[in-house]
Amino acid sequence: MTRVAIVTGGTRGIGEAISLALKDLGYTVAANYAGNDEKAKAFTEATGIAAYKWDVGDHEATLAGVAQVEADLGPVDVVVNNAGITRDGVLHRMTFENWNEVIRVNLGGCFNMAKATFPGMRERGWGRIVNIGSINGQAGQYGQVNYAAAKSGIHGFTKALAQEGAKFGVTVNAIAPGYIDTEMVAAVPAPVLEKIVAKIPVGRLGHAEEIARGVAFLCSEDAGFVTGSTMSINGGQHMY
Ligand SMILES: NC(=O)c1ccc[n+]([C@@H]2O[C@H](COP(=O)([O-])OP(=O)(O)OC[C@H]3O[C@@H](n4cnc5c(N)ncnc54)[C@H](OP(=O)(O)O)[C@@H]3O)[C@@H](O)[C@H]2O)c1
Repeated sequence: MTRVAIVTGGTRGIGEAISLALKDLGYTVAANYAGNDEKAKAFTEATGIAAYKWDVGDHEATLAGVAQVEADLGPVDVVVNNAGITRDGVLHRMTFENWNEVIRVNLGGCFNMAKATFPGMRERGWGRIVNIGSINGQAGQYGQVNYAAAKSGIHGFTKALAQEGAKFGVTVNAIAPGYIDTEMVAAVPAPVLEKIVAKIPVGRLGHAEEIARGVAFLCSEDAGFVTGSTMSINGGQHMY
């Protein structure tokens, strides 16, 4: 029986590339998404990967969503917490709602997914969890106290849960992407983006597939001795 993997936010952007990389690895993949039904439908038609809609920031919806995946495909052994949002703004203009929503989805989503899947992995003695953090969680970023705090929290969450999973064969790692050419980055105004690219030693934005290859390694059998680590994939922009 092939292992089952869930990729949150797995129907577009970096998550889409991760879903495909895990399928190539031989896993049965379920791609979660939040609301873009049209994109999810096109993704399933193109890839044959089933898409499941729920809000990872909603605890009960996440438990129910994972239960549905397990009923359809079997126990979940691999989780990639990739779903993420931005609600940027300098602190003196940031609303509490925009602070809370980013923490709820980006960081709360990791907790909710772990609650739904980690106990089963622990019981079965094998599991892989990869959390997608960010260079901006490592280095901070102007206008992103909410996002930087959530992503930095993900890095702490990873190291703590890695300690709990280690003796049960469950590894927990993070990837901290730099700037990747997805829709999230396309939303950054062009003059700001030019300045960002000028600071990337490799001289370009990254590609979603470059993140996906790192995730695939961390989710593979071969990575059993790697846990609690953060892999930076950022073109040399921040060496941490
Ligand atoms: N792009 C970058 O340069 C960059 C850099 C560092 C880190 N990251 C991180 O990498 C991850 C993916 O980024 P991306 O650029 O690929 O983002 P994206 O293109 O905006 O895609 C985000 C994905 O997350 C899903 N999503 C959003 N909120 C959700 C929720 N509450 N519940 C379930 N799914 C939800 C979206 O679903 P719908 O399609 O339904 O909206 C979509 O599939 C994020 O965690 C992001 O913070 C990105």
